[in-house]
Amino acid sequence: MTLLPQTGHLRALHTVIRDRHATQADFVHYSNRIIRLLLEAAMDLIPVEPHEVTTPVGVTYAGLRPVAEVCAVPVIRAGESMEPELRAMCPGIRIGKILIQRDKTTKLPHLYYTHLPPDIAGRHVLLLEPMLATGGSAAAAIKVLLDHGVREEHVVFVNLLASPEGLAALSRAHPRVRVVTSSIEERLNESAYMVPGIGDFGDRYFGTA
Ligand code: URA
Repeated sequence: MTLLPQTGHLRALHTVIRDRHATQADFVHYSNRIIRLLLEAAMDLIPVEPHEVTTPVGVTYAGLRPVAEVCAVPVIRAGESMEPELRAMCPGIRIGKILIQRDKTTKLPHLYYTHLPPDIAGRHVLLLEPMLATGGSAAAAIKVLLDHGVREEHVVFVNLLASPEGLAALSRAHPRVRVVTSSIEERLNESAYMVPGIGDFGDRYFGTA
């Protein structure tokens, strides 16, 4: 698990988005800044191979490039908040979608929709889900990727806030998936919201509160 360094800078960004009085514009702007840090840290987990280039002064630079193609899969809807920063970083990146919602009666995650790049089995996958609460939906989304031939060690779960319960459940179910997060919260409350938390991320980001 990669926890972003808990610098004063990162804590200040978190302070803006955790404030219940933050405007939607501030919430989106400061969330996006954290999302960019998360995505850069996630890209750092993609293996690289040597790749030489010649610099403008005619000297060889012993550089590196990713060994494999990367694609992203946001879990609808909150995960889609991570798309704009990712597209700014990697124009043309392939993006699939997964829609999972918890059944109101059984409380179990239900898969409603999947559309993934056809060659996803050979790719490294950034699975985008800002909130890791119980871990049920995350595990269900990872299972969808594995069922499409993706290797567990090729999945990077990109996440803004994680609960200890969610992290434990995820590492039990899928021990080889790497998690990148910007905060580990204290606990879940009785409504499965994280504490101190951020409230409903999707509602605050998309303005549907
Ligand atoms: N989803 C959210 O948006 N927030 C939480 O705290 C937990 C799940």
